[in-house]
Amino acid sequence: MRKPNPEDGSTVYQLIGRCKPLDENSMYCNLLQCSHFRDTCVIAEQGGLVVGFVSGYFLPDQPDTLFVWQVAVGEEARGQGLASRMLSKLLTRHQGRVRHLHTSITTGNDASWNTFKKLSRENDAPLNTRVMFDREQHFGGQHDTEMLVHIGPFKALAGSTSTASRAHLQE
Ligand SMILES: CC(C)(COP(=O)(O)OP(=O)(O)OC[C@H]1O[C@@H](n2cnc3c(N)ncnc32)[C@H](O)[C@@H]1OP(=O)(O)O)[C@@H](O)C(=O)NCCC(=O)NCCS
Repeated sequence: MRKPNPEDGSTVYQLIGRCKPLDENSMYCNLLQCSHFRDTCVIAEQGGLVVGFVSGYFLPDQPDTLFVWQVAVGEEARGQGLASRMLSKLLTRHQGRVRHLHTSITTGNDASWNTFKKLSRENDAPLNTRVMFDREQHFGGQHDTEMLVHIGPFKALAGSTSTASRAHLQE
């Protein structure tokens, strides 16, 4: 697991494209994530291939709040705890700064809910939800409602996680 580079942008674009139901963004957007926002992104490789990506950024008006934009794990690497390890990696990288984590999830995405419930559990931080972008009010009926998931406040050591997960953290 490492920070992405601009050269990873096109590969990330391909990965997101095969991780339904994630929204695809433009390749340019992925390039920006892999350059301007690389400090708050994680890329995971297995056998030289990109199999995982987490994108995020700190909220401009809440510098202690990390917004996780997307989490993607290729089918070939799912069910091995990779999503959880990438998120822990991000928290560990910014240990001491992250007091809150925000993300948004549609109601039907069980894998996503379970991923963030696990993060909440492992960090002993409460999880609360409310509507972030409403199907009618914000998406003009074109997209399911995105629920804002708020995890936090984290204790001083946000990112500390189970010994098993920690053993996988590199760099
Ligand atoms: C969601 C996703 C990132 C999970 O990746 P992963 O590496 O397989 O997840 P992990 O192995 O770290 O599992 C994290 C938790 O989610 C649960 N989970 C993972 N996939 C699941 C599924 N399909 N259904 C229900 N729960 C699931 C795991 O059991 C684990 O919880 P537990 O330890 O309490 O049992 C991956 O399935 C994916 O890329 N999906 C498509 C894109 C997407 O929907 N992303 C949403 C953002 S999270």
